[in-house]
Amino acid sequence: MKIYAAKDYSDLSRKAANLISAQIIMKPDAVLGLATGSTPVGAYKQLIAWYEEGDLDFSRIRSVNLDEYKGLSGEHDQSYRYFMNHNLFNHVNIRKEDTNVPNGLAEDAEAECVRYNGVIAAMGGIDLQLLGIGGNGHIGFNEPSSVFEKGTHVVTLTEETRQSNARFFASIDEVPTHALTMGVGNIMSARKILLLASGEAKAKAVY
Ligand code: F6R
Repeated sequence: MKIYAAKDYSDLSRKAANLISAQIIMKPDAVLGLATGSTPVGAYKQLIAWYEEGDLDFSRIRSVNLDEYKGLSGEHDQSYRYFMNHNLFNHVNIRKEDTNVPNGLAEDAEAECVRYNGVIAAMGGIDLQLLGIGGNGHIGFNEPSSVFEKGTHVVTLTEETRQSNARFFASIDEVPTHALTMGVGNIMSARKILLLASGEAKAKAVY
């Protein structure tokens, strides 16, 4: 494990974008595991800027996102599909059909989890998994625990996670109660993992 200290958020974002770019340049058809949340936004902005300058090509890149709220459609502005489209996919030349986010509206969420594990396997696994971390240490929507689910699964969100995500919704009542998330097994199977943490609120979790 390597720890890179960054002097501030923009330094962290540039360093993260550098590492992601290196993956894209070394393997133009790489599978990127992507995350939502506030932390990777700066890195995504930097990747878009380098794409616009002609330094990056996403045309053969494939992606799988960590998680999605259960019950939200991709058009809902708080869904993680919407977030990815607006913060990255719409601004680079990745093919939308090569981007994957769990379907929050799947009638059978358990079956959707099985399908999603199959998507990851069919792509040959994840080359680089980008992660944020919750203030309580959650990864994806895997809350701290002594026992972890290996594969993609449905989780009941903790009150702490719902409260912390309530800032993006009109009220706490609108925050979904469940989500579909990759499991710790999916994440740990990635060939490389890049975990970003920014700000004092993450210090305890990182420690
Ligand atoms: C996002 C995700 C979450 C976030 C975490 C940190 O896809 O799975 O685990 O990475 O909640 O969120 P931010 O970056 O908003 O502090």
